[in-house]
Amino acid sequence: MIQVAILGYGVVGSGVAEVLRLNQGQIVKKIGQGVEVKYVLDLRDFPDDPLESCMIKDFGVIEKDKDVTIVVEAIGGETIAYDFAKRALLSGKSVCTPNKALIARHGAELLAIAKEKGVNLLFEASVGGGIPLIRPFNDALLTDEVETVTGILNGTSNYILTQMSMNGTSYAEALKDAQNLGYAEQDPTADVGSFDACRKLAILLSLATGKQVDYEDIQTEGIEKISTEDFVFAKELGFTLKQVVDGRVCENGVEALAAPFLVPLGHPLSTINDVFNGVWVHGKTTGNVMFYGSGAGKLPTASAVVSNIVDAAYGQHISHVWSADKAKILPAENYIKRKVIRISCENPSAIANVLNVNVLTHDAYPNYAAWLTQPESEAETAIALDRLKSIEGFKAVERVLRVYDSE
Ligand code: HSE
Repeated sequence: MIQVAILGYGVVGSGVAEVLRLNQGQIVKKIGQGVEVKYVLDLRDFPDDPLESCMIKDFGVIEKDKDVTIVVEAIGGETIAYDFAKRALLSGKSVCTPNKALIARHGAELLAIAKEKGVNLLFEASVGGGIPLIRPFNDALLTDEVETVTGILNGTSNYILTQMSMNGTSYAEALKDAQNLGYAEQDPTADVGSFDACRKLAILLSLATGKQVDYEDIQTEGIEKISTEDFVFAKELGFTLKQVVDGRVCENGVEALAAPFLVPLGHPLSTINDVFNGVWVHGKTTGNVMFYGSGAGKLPTASAVVSNIVDAAYGQHISHVWSADKAKILPAENYIKRKVIRISCENPSAIANVLNVNVLTHDAYPNYAAWLTQPESEAETAIALDRLKSIEGFKAVERVLRVYDSE
């Protein structure tokens, strides 16, 4: 019997215990033995829980127990989680975690410790919830040059934007629903501010480049300000709105953004709705590959962690190419993107004449004008926006949204 300890008994930690119970028969069939939870570490009490007798509050007990060979870190965050994960690896135990904050920041260091100790650090659930994504990066795509990693990596934001787009739900109401459904992080700023997606992109780009991509270097913009008007004008121009991660491996560095993007209607990403995630990868020789599935939620995420427990139970070290050398993140102001600009003005047709662009107006919003730019850098966009100020009747730039263009 393989004995595991679960650190943190929140949504994912308790989900791991549940999936282990539900899938025990399948696990025994696959690996020839069962997996038993010996300890659950949490500061809270869980009276009447089936694992109540396993509850402890001292990590030292787990660290010293040689029978525990696998530790599930489901505490979250980067402080205690880092300390416990590192100590578990140093004491010769494998660590399985859904914690993207921990992996994005300390992945290279913890992987090096796991390698030295001949154990495993596995993190399938850290990106894309239940979607097998880390394994393909570390396996089928390993020998290819991954050129782009783009897509939808935050279930909460995708759920919110889908509700706003399809049902006209307000932003606040949709966020509340996502929280009630258990998709959102404890502090939803990480979801709606695109920080969660940014960390997941950093993990995938680190695996793609084999170098440390620091998430703090990635330009990140949230979806909090997206409004009904944005969806109305987007649809008229042939787009929908999604929170997108956009990573491109270039000769001189990496381009990376996590932000709201206009996705052309008809592109596979435009059809990914609700809590689902989708990642579109372009490999030099593989071409386009798309990964799609449940990006958040208790059981899909826990299933991915349990699949890692089974990987670790086999006992062989699984190596990852991810060094601590830093990848160069190219400055976002140089990225070339098409954009949709929406402004408020008294006379949209005057704007059309001055800028020589096809301006879209809408009967329901007579004071707004919007247009699609050519591919241009942020600096070029800034110059164009500056020119608007001298036009009579111009009031304000309401929104500038980048267009997602895939390979
Ligand atoms: N809050 C995250 C999301 C959970 O909504 O995608 C899964 O990482």
